[in-house]
Amino acid sequence: MSEKKLWGGRFTKSTDSFTDHFHSSIGFDSRMYRQDILGSVAHAAMLGRQGIIPEKDSELIQKTLKEILKDIEEGKVEFNEKAEDIHMNIESILIDRIGDVGKRLHTGRSRNDQVALDIRMYLKDQITDIKKLVLELVGVLNNIASEHTATIMPGYTHLQNAQPVTLAHHVLAYVEMLKRDYARLTDTYKRTNVMPLGSGALAATTYPLDRVFVMEQLGFDSITLDSMDGVSDRDFVIELLNTLSILMVHLSRFCEEIVIWSSQQYKFIELDDAYSTGSSIMPQKKNPDMAELIRGKSGRVFGHLMAMLTTMKGLPLAYNKDMQEDKEGVFDAVDTIKMCLPVFTKMLATMTVNKDTMYSAAKKGFMNATDAADWLVKRGVPFRDAHEIIGRLVLYSINNDKSLDELTLDEYKAISDIFTEDIYKAISLEECVNSRKVDGGPSESYIKGLIELNKQYISEMEEQDK
Ligand code: ARG
Repeated sequence: MSEKKLWGGRFTKSTDSFTDHFHSSIGFDSRMYRQDILGSVAHAAMLGRQGIIPEKDSELIQKTLKEILKDIEEGKVEFNEKAEDIHMNIESILIDRIGDVGKRLHTGRSRNDQVALDIRMYLKDQITDIKKLVLELVGVLNNIASEHTATIMPGYTHLQNAQPVTLAHHVLAYVEMLKRDYARLTDTYKRTNVMPLGSGALAATTYPLDRVFVMEQLGFDSITLDSMDGVSDRDFVIELLNTLSILMVHLSRFCEEIVIWSSQQYKFIELDDAYSTGSSIMPQKKNPDMAELIRGKSGRVFGHLMAMLTTMKGLPLAYNKDMQEDKEGVFDAVDTIKMCLPVFTKMLATMTVNKDTMYSAAKKGFMNATDAADWLVKRGVPFRDAHEIIGRLVLYSINNDKSLDELTLDEYKAISDIFTEDIYKAISLEECVNSRKVDGGPSESYIKGLIELNKQYISEMEEQDK
């Protein structure tokens, strides 16, 4: 590859070699080689069709670009830091191969709209991949839920026993979060799916470009409507980082629960050996490292969001080199998510649930106290009075080391003579769960319906995104 810069005409000296290293982005933007080449093929085809360059030159350029793509994929091409970025590396290789004809490719185009195009194309592919992974996870969680519609466990507030729920109800809460993540990804995709080529450096171009042809060739939905915005918009990068950050919040919260649930104190679940690790010193240990690592990796994704917001906030229109800093962060965020999601999905799919331990835990902590109060309310006692009566009953039980269902009817009656034998049924854990039939609640009948709705949701999304 020639050492002369493609923009070298007005310079008398070559750049300092450390400066070359400092400002070059080939070290990280080379991963967009495919998008860069496909974008150039479409641009070249359009230049030929519009008579901006000779048709035969356009054809030779397209053919050679495709050969370069194949060679890159076969590992036959080495990129050069001195050519700065993926755009100029590929253009230089093209010129090396076909000389003057190759020099016609960049007509009516700037690296500013080229890079905007490449990053949009690259992120569109990534969003599509991530959406598939999210949907797989939703499927696994929905399956776990369907096996555990009657697996009673403690529901918490403040991490204190609150009211009994089922594992299905708990897991389906995450399904709801992930459905929102999926919708956010779909939305981000829409705003990424806009074709900026033709914006030029900032003020478009004097050539009669057919932007809509390029848009169609590359599978975009629409074109950018203001060339200055076309080259300086990175909202879609920020939006994706935001979407991924929220997704990581969800994974991280669930991971925190996995860590707690697998502890010796809880023992609600046991992770499969394939998704746990041991200790180098303590032979007995089985650690939930994968869950911890996913929880930990949320930090770097949030960091990239903050970095990108900060990079963009003071930039005057239009392109500024600062914007080259968009890539490493969003690439790392995407890579991180694409590693976390499959590990998380498999970790959950293979875990063992200790139903009995969950049930015994739900028996502790007077989780049926609200239901006992509701029993009184249904017999005409105002809720505040019912709350007070049950509060006294709980205090009595604590002092006598009993649970509510272990108290005798006489003990109940000593506190309020309204109590009758059927209080026992009302405060059984099964009843506490299943009488909450209201939409959104933990009752088995409602949850089974929700699981069916989720199955429908999954096939609709699969169909929609085919
Ligand atoms: N490597 C640059 C980036 O990632 C490409 C655009 C450079 N444009 C320029 N005028 N220096 O943003």
